[in-house]
Amino acid sequence: MRGFRYPPCGVPPRNAPPMLAKTLFPSPIPAKIDFHAMRCILLYKMVASCYSETTMKEISLTGIKPTGELHIGNYFGAIKPALELTEMYDARYFIADYHGLNTMKNPAELHSTTRHVAAGWLAAGLDPEKVIFYRQSAIPEIFELTTMLMAFTSKGLMNRAHAYKAAVQENNEKGDDTDAGVNMGLFTYPVLMAADIIAFDSDVVPVGKDQVQHIEMAQDIAQAVNANYGKAVLKIPRAGVQKDTAIVPGFDGRKMSKSYGNTIPMFVPEKTLRKTIMRIVTNSQAVEEPKDPDASQIFMLYKLFTKQEEQTALAARYRAGGMGWGEAKEELFRVVNRTLAPMRERYDAIMADIPALNKILEHGTEKARPIAAATVNRFKKAAGIE
Ligand code: TRP
Repeated sequence: MRGFRYPPCGVPPRNAPPMLAKTLFPSPIPAKIDFHAMRCILLYKMVASCYSETTMKEISLTGIKPTGELHIGNYFGAIKPALELTEMYDARYFIADYHGLNTMKNPAELHSTTRHVAAGWLAAGLDPEKVIFYRQSAIPEIFELTTMLMAFTSKGLMNRAHAYKAAVQENNEKGDDTDAGVNMGLFTYPVLMAADIIAFDSDVVPVGKDQVQHIEMAQDIAQAVNANYGKAVLKIPRAGVQKDTAIVPGFDGRKMSKSYGNTIPMFVPEKTLRKTIMRIVTNSQAVEEPKDPDASQIFMLYKLFTKQEEQTALAARYRAGGMGWGEAKEELFRVVNRTLAPMRERYDAIMADIPALNKILEHGTEKARPIAAATVNRFKKAAGIE
């Protein structure tokens, strides 16, 4: 046994916490092969596999509903913060097209918004090589998992879901049947969302406040499964509530939202973008009057696209007087276009080659399915369904 060269068990795996490294990887390495060394080799292998590059990071999951034309409110409120997760997390992103089906019954619309949203996120910087990017509908395991989770979801829990409760309340106020217009897709929405999350062993699901209840329900459902089988079959996710996502005003001063029709779209041609910005509503202050930048939604929008230096300079021009709203809008257009032009170019290129876009999504499916399948198999095994 003397000449046997065992793996460098004095070298801890990259990123192993210091205490763990010291305990498991004593230095110097013992001269003789003994049980200690054998244990070291085994532990090295086990620990190294746990601490490999990808599993070191926590898993984040972002679901993107394919709803309508992407605008800069979506960009600053959702897309940009979500893409920043790529550095910190083993990040996964998907287009929730079956969630979209609950409300979108027009096939052409659902098909085109799905492509639009996929191309939009890619154009905004989503790197499909670094992350996993797929369509929900391409992962049948999610739906298998949904069915299994249904068995652990009490109907009462669904009755308490905000979106369903709001629909019921509206019906009651109108004197309609309690469940008028409510399909089972809406009613069981939280179970499908739980399956989206749980299938991918997600640690963190970054969401706005309105979605926190859904994450709590996913936790409840996963915990019910684990409690039943007395072991950790499913990973319990947590919500990563985004704190200070920018409030993006629309051109009428209200929050930018598709339902208000006050949006600045991300991917329209330059001319259209300029026209949209020129339509922003202002007060009737004359050119020479000093203006308060902090009371202007034009300046609020300008701030989103610029660094401190440019903001200070333009704020001074607002306050000095002599700059009319037309010029303020021109300045805004210049900086908006500066940011959007490269994204628009990428977007146009992606949309001009749909087969290539489909390939990207298929590549994502190939990476995603084995992960979801492993979860389903683990669950089936625990459940006695094999
Ligand atoms: N419900 C989310 C929304 O309305 C979209 C979504 C579906 C989602 N499944 C998800 C988000 C899973 C995060 C994780 O925006």
